[in-house]
Parts: sequence; C-alpha cells; structure tokens
Amino acid sequence: MKTHLDVALQAARRAGSYALGAERNGAISVRMKEANDYVTDVDIQIEQLIKDTIRLSFPHDGIFGEEGGESGNLQSNRWVIDPIDGTTNFFRGMPNYTISIAWEEEPFHPLVGVVFNPRHNELFWAAKGQGAFLNGQKITVSSVRELNQAIVVLVPPHRRRDLADSYFETMNTIFKATSDIRSFGSCALELSYIASGRVDGYYERALGYYDMAAGMIILQEAGGIVTPAFEDAPFSDHSCDILASNGHLHRALSSLIA
Ligand code: IPD
Ligand code: CA
Ligand code: CA
Repeated sequence: MKTHLDVALQAARRAGSYALGAERNGAISVRMKEANDYVTDVDIQIEQLIKDTIRLSFPHDGIFGEEGGESGNLQSNRWVIDPIDGTTNFFRGMPNYTISIAWEEEPFHPLVGVVFNPRHNELFWAAKGQGAFLNGQKITVSSVRELNQAIVVLVPPHRRRDLADSYFETMNTIFKATSDIRSFGSCALELSYIASGRVDGYYERALGYYDMAAGMIILQEAGGIVTPAFEDAPFSDHSCDILASNGHLHRALSSLIA
C-alpha cells in the first residue's frame, strides 16, 4: 500500500503544478459535457498525466477516470481519478479545486486517497489503518455533537434539476436545525474539510464515485463516517447520494434527510 500512496502523492503534486501552470498561462478551453457539467482541456491533460504517472509503477492496474472512463485490468484493483474536482471553480478563477486520486481493491472501499488543493498548497492523504494527514500533520474530525453547533455542506443538485424541489425541502430542514451551511464546489475538498474538523457534515445527491473516492478514505481515517444518503440506494460508479459527517452527527443528519 505504501507504494500506491507514494505514487498517488507524486501524481497529485505533478497534476497540481500542471493546473497552476495552466491557470498562469490563461487560455483554458471549456466545453459543456451536458447541462451544467463542464470539462476543460486541462482536465483531460491532467487525467492523462496522472495515468502516465501510475502506469510507470503499475502498468496493468485498472484505472477509472472521470474523463477517460475505464482502462487496464479492472478485475483485481483500480485507481479512481477525478483530475480536477471543482472544474467550474477552476475555469472561473476560484481557488477551491482539487486533484483527487484513490486506489481500492474492492469497489467503494478505498484503501488510499490523496486530495490536493494546489492553490492553497494543501495536500490531504490517508491510507487504510494509518490515519489521515494534511501537509504531514495528522488530522481528525471535529468534536461537534450538537446539530445546532454544526456547519453542514449542502449542495443543490445542479445537474439534476428534477431532484431540486425535494433537495431544497431537506435543505430548509437542515438549515433550521444547524448553525450554518457552506458549499465549496469540490466534493473531494468538502470531505477533506470534514476530515480536518473545518466543517461537520455534508449531504449531496447525484455525484460520481470519482468525486468522492479519495475524500471518503481521508474522512474515514480521520474518524468520520461516509454512507449512502438513502439505505435503498447504494453507491455506484456514476450515481452516488452521499451523507458524510464527523460521526457524532451522522444519525441526526440521517434522520433529517430520511
Ligand atoms: C463536481 C464537484 C462539485 C459537485 C458536483 C461535481 P467536477 O465535480 O465535485 O462539488 O457539486 O456535483 O460534479 O464536475 O467539478 O469534477
Ligand atoms: Ca468531480
Ligand atoms: Ca472533474
């Protein structure tokens, strides 16, 4: 697992430098994949760069990337990559975007996760059983136990407007029960922020697994909990409704969204 972590860290740092360079150069070209879902030329270049870095050490491993889909031997294990999580922030010049890389032997049970926010030079990582770290310092979730003291990340389903009414209803309920809400525009960053105690909970619908894989193990290793938001809707590669928390608030948040 150590080599997997080292490779993921190296790939994330290289990808982060590339993203910063692209921002400095300007001229990022943006395309809409579908309604409210964007990709830039830099997303695609970074995914290739990460794959090339992985392939140097693990030439045959399975890779599942947001932009490039699946390649390699996916039977034994796989890497799960979101080259830029927070693409809209990236091409609109906002700092909350991340490189997200996970590795797992069993689907939806990540063993290694690296999330890098190059603009803030914040590198989050975790490996199963080894804890979670931010720039080398161990991190843990907050100790907030009362909903009325909690800051919860809520993100309306911008790509699934059909879910908007029910989401806003729940959002209203959670807003009234908690201290405040936030939305940072990168799922991987939001999970890492719960892991480092900056916020306490998170509910979002209709994510891809690549959005959350790395952040999931980082949060779990920091003492938090990540589950499907609804018992009858387990995670799948292209459709995940997520509830994440510092652990203390999981049951309370779960009953608010039920
Ligand atoms: C998006 C971010 C965002 C979430 C969206 C995702 P992308 O990923 O994670 O926080 O709200 O649902 O699609 O498209 O920037 O990789
Ligand atoms: Ca994403
Ligand atoms: Ca992305």
